[in-house]
Amino acid sequence: MEVSLWGDMIVTGDDKKCGDAAKGNKAGGDRAGGDNAAEWLPPKMRDLDISIPYSNPPTDRLMDFYASWAENYDTDLIDAYGYMAPTDAVAAIMTLGLPSDARILDAGCGTGQAGALLATAGFTHLDGADLSPEMRAVAARLGVYQRLYHLDMTTDYAPQIVDFGRTYDAVICVGVFGYGPPYVEDLPRIMDAARPGAPVLVTVNGRGWEKMGWDDSLIPVLAAADVTLAARTRIRHMVKEGVHAELLDLRKG
Ligand SMILES: C[S@@+](CC[C@H](N)C(=O)[O-])C[C@H]1O[C@@H](n2cnc3c(N)ncnc32)[C@H](O)[C@@H]1O
Repeated sequence: MEVSLWGDMIVTGDDKKCGDAAKGNKAGGDRAGGDNAAEWLPPKMRDLDISIPYSNPPTDRLMDFYASWAENYDTDLIDAYGYMAPTDAVAAIMTLGLPSDARILDAGCGTGQAGALLATAGFTHLDGADLSPEMRAVAARLGVYQRLYHLDMTTDYAPQIVDFGRTYDAVICVGVFGYGPPYVEDLPRIMDAARPGAPVLVTVNGRGWEKMGWDDSLIPVLAAADVTLAARTRIRHMVKEGVHAELLDLRKG
């Protein structure tokens, strides 16, 4: 174990790469999130139905939600909820010693909060990808991404990444996983975007972690895909709501 930037414990990956025995295990967690999936919700935001991302929506309903939130997303999240996950995830990537011209994918980039922080930190080769065109449109205004493209993390997107002729030196994915969709079973797909051994940093909403049973499901899902959990760190998520996130450092190959 090490001590993280934020004083929490990091679980290192030595005993996290599981063998074949775990392969084929059904992921734990309650896909429907149980009857209590939406028992915790951030405070209501104007006329937005903020329960949608926490209530196992079909992806098209989730996209309608983000379409209606895109323009106010940044101010709502940062001001009202104290959203700090991008700050802490980018701080973590900066400890990895990547060169400033490392090619980094911000998967599920949303409005580009992580991309903006990465650019400020000096990274010059950033791409962003997200399923929501409205969120991507806001991100585009930042001017920090070389490419911004459509990506659905619930489908096999390896062919799309290969079409671009690029795998990345690092991937960051902030604020996308927790409740779902996308679900824990979709997580290994993200490894196809990274070159072998490259760091893939993914945050998982801490409330979603508990509600959806990530403690039981994560390791078997990773093992089945031959993905190593190099580190797991507790970081800030929505500080005004007392919600933390788990930051996963994943490696493959
Ligand atoms: C809470 S926002 C996080 C955005 C950004 N990373 C941040 O930290 O501000 C979740 C993002 O995930 C995107 N998303 C949800 N489901 C997705 C999927 N299946 N594939 C790709 N992006 C998805 C949404 O469009 C939204 O932009």
